[in-house]
Amino acid sequence: MKIGVIGTGYVGLVTAVGLADMGHNVTGTDKVTEKIEKASRGIVPIYEPGLGDLLRKNLKKGNLCFNSDLEETIRSSDVLFVCVNTPQRKDGSADMTFVEGVSRCIAENLNGYKLIVEKSTVPVRTSSWIKRTMTLYKAGECSFDVASNPEFLREGSAVSDFLDPDRIIIGVESDKARDMLLKIYEKYKDKIYITNIDTAELIKHASNSFLAMKISYINLISDLCEKTDADVEFVAKGMGLDSRIGKQFLQAGLGYGGSCFPKDVRALVKMGEDLGIDMKLLKEVDRINMARTDMFIKKVKNALWILKNKKLAVLGLAFKPRTDDIRNAPSIHIIERLLEEEARLSLYDPEAVKNIKALFPEGRPEILYAASAYQALEGANAALFVTEWEELKNLDLKKAKKLMENPIIIDGRNIFKPGDVRKLGFEYYSIGRK
Ligand code: UGA
Repeated sequence: MKIGVIGTGYVGLVTAVGLADMGHNVTGTDKVTEKIEKASRGIVPIYEPGLGDLLRKNLKKGNLCFNSDLEETIRSSDVLFVCVNTPQRKDGSADMTFVEGVSRCIAENLNGYKLIVEKSTVPVRTSSWIKRTMTLYKAGECSFDVASNPEFLREGSAVSDFLDPDRIIIGVESDKARDMLLKIYEKYKDKIYITNIDTAELIKHASNSFLAMKISYINLISDLCEKTDADVEFVAKGMGLDSRIGKQFLQAGLGYGGSCFPKDVRALVKMGEDLGIDMKLLKEVDRINMARTDMFIKKVKNALWILKNKKLAVLGLAFKPRTDDIRNAPSIHIIERLLEEEARLSLYDPEAVKNIKALFPEGRPEILYAASAYQALEGANAALFVTEWEELKNLDLKKAKKLMENPIIIDGRNIFKPGDVRKLGFEYYSIGRK
C-alpha cells in the first residue's frame, strides 16, 4: 500500500513521519513549497520534540518523501490521509474549503480505487460531503471509500502520542476500508476501535470539548476556592482519585488555548445549534475560558494597583510548554490588556518569542524581548508566570529576587508552592490557592 498524506502542517507532518516509522511507504504533499523543501531536507519548521530526529531517520531509510505535486501524489497512492487545516469561520463553524478542494482534486485524479481517510478534525457528517464531492467530480468509474481516523496528538508530545496512542479510532462503512486501515495500524491492533464514520467524527469533537469542559470546570472551582479556605490543587487531587473522574486535565490556571480546544468547542456548539440542539453547556465552557484573562489582570492590579509605567516580566508565551505555538495563547490577551494599561513589558519564552514578535513587533519602547528569564526580571515590579515551562519551574528564585525591583510573583499556572516562595520573601499570588 502506498500512502499519501495531504497537508504537512502539524498533524500532517507527524502523521507522515509516524506512518513511515511504522514501515509504510509514505509521500507527504503540501501546496506550500517551502514546507516541502524543508521537510525533504529533514528540517521541521515547528518546534516539536523528537520530530526532527524521526523525520531524518525515515528520510534516510528511504520510505518517506515529500513533494508539492498533489495530483501526482493522489495518482500514485492507494490511501490518502487528508490532513489539511479546517480554520474557524466568523460564526464559529469550521471552514471546510480546503477539505472540499482536496476531495475535488482526488475525484478528478481518480485512476484506481482510493481510500480517503479524514485525519483533520472535521464536523460530523463531513464524510457525506466528501462522498458527494467525489461523486460529482469523479473521473471515470473507479471506486473509492471514505473513512474517518481522527487524530489525538498533543502539541509538545505529538511523537510519543503517535507512536504510543491510547486508542486508534476508525470509522468505516465498507469491509475493504476496514481491512486496509487494520493493515496500516496492524502494530496497534489491541488499541483499535472500529465504528461508523459519523461516530468516529463525533468522537474527536466530543473528546476535545470534554477535555476543555474539564479545564473550565476546575477553573470555576478555583474561583470558589479563592473565596474560601479550599485549595484547588488539593480539590483536583481529591477529585482525581476517583477513577471515574481521573486526575488529568484538572490543572487550574489561565485556561486552554492552542489551535484545537477553543476552535473545536465553538465548532461543536455551531454543529449542535445547526441541528436544533441547545448547546449552552459548551457555550459556558468557552465563556469561562475567555474570562480567565480578566481574572488574571484583576490579580495583577490587586497586587500593583496602577500598571502604567510598571515593568512587568511576562514569562512563558507559548499556549503550553514544549511548543513554539502561540495560537489562542492566553499570553496574547494578557499582553494586549497590559499594554492598554500602559505597562512596560519584558517578554520571555524558551521557544515562542519569534512567533510572538510577529504580533507585537520589536521597536516599541514599551516592549522588551529578553534573552533569558533572568534578563526579563531585571528591574521588574512583578513577575507574571503564564506558561509552565520546566525552565521556568526551575528558576533560581533567590537570584530572581535580587534582580527584581519588587519581589512580587503572580503565577497563572500554579508553578510554585506558595510556602516555598513566600519563605524566600516574595509576595505570591496564584490560582485558587492562598
Ligand atoms: C489537544 C488534545 O489534547 C489532543 O488530544 C488533540 O489531538 C489536539 O488538541 C487536537 O485536536 O489536535 P493540544 O491542544 O495540543 O491537544 O494540547 P493540550 O495538552 O490538550 O492542552 C490544551 C490547552 O489546555 C493548553 O492551553 C493547556 O495549557 C490547557 N490545559 C490543559 C489546562 O489549562 N489545564 C489542564 O489541566 C490541561
